[in-house]
Amino acid sequence: MRSLIDIAELSLQEIDSLIATANDIIDNPKKYADKCRGKKLATLFFEPSTRTRLSFEAAMYELGGNVLGFSEAQSSSAAKGESIADTAKTVSCYADIIAMRHPKEGAPLVASMNASIPVINAGDGGHNHPTQTLADLLTIKREKGSFDNLTVGLCGDLKFGRTVHSLINALRRYKNVKFVLISPTELRIPEYIRESLKKDNFEVVETTDLEAAMSDLDILYMTRVQRERFFNEEEYLRLKDSYILTTEKLANAKQDLSILHPLPRVNEISVAIDNDPRACYFKQVLNGKYMRMALILMLLGVE
Ligand code: CP
Repeated sequence: MRSLIDIAELSLQEIDSLIATANDIIDNPKKYADKCRGKKLATLFFEPSTRTRLSFEAAMYELGGNVLGFSEAQSSSAAKGESIADTAKTVSCYADIIAMRHPKEGAPLVASMNASIPVINAGDGGHNHPTQTLADLLTIKREKGSFDNLTVGLCGDLKFGRTVHSLINALRRYKNVKFVLISPTELRIPEYIRESLKKDNFEVVETTDLEAAMSDLDILYMTRVQRERFFNEEEYLRLKDSYILTTEKLANAKQDLSILHPLPRVNEISVAIDNDPRACYFKQVLNGKYMRMALILMLLGVE
């Protein structure tokens, strides 16, 4: 039995295989309509979500399975003090696979150590979000054809941005990837990630200036400054509009730039950009469902 807590647990061959399955689902959805008949996915969401929870649920329904779960901690027995370990043991009696989101880093790992069914990390605090990365990877592959030789700009909250941490962890395994890390000083990438990239001799540029970096980028991964990760409201208000991508700021961008965002967006990308052919963030949303379908099939061992 296997869980997915960190994107690095998947080999490059497994990522290729998940992408191949997702592409086949896109081309032949009917082939997959009964693959999980009789199986149940439990979505245990202790933190708000639109895309991740609903795409997991849509994924399981489109595989012919069923879904149960909760969408906030207050409607579960966590509100009465139940531990993650006991919740995981309990849900193992009802479901075949768990997708868990939790505000505390490491909670899905604890669940996986106590569950008798696979656990998927659907986002743990400011740590990791491996299935968002699967959505990102399918999007990059479909837009660019390859993960090699890309200059990837990551912009916004790089400190608490779990999608950023997981995406760097995935892309660092491909050839000649250059990272441009664009953030306010207060929201720089965590030291352990910076040091690890340096140790492995990656070309990394850190800057506060999005416009100056723009012309080099093949991918621009925008992120939201996350109110829920701040202890201090004033600090959030000061930093929240650090980067707002507008049509004018794309003046020097490559014609084949791909603009990604894990969403939700607050106002860091102007809605005017939604109609630009380089905007990929709603494609990412759909790709997330297909990659979660592929992942569920893999973890349940369905042929
Ligand atoms: N990208 C993402 O995790 O979105 P939600 O918070 O809506 O699930």
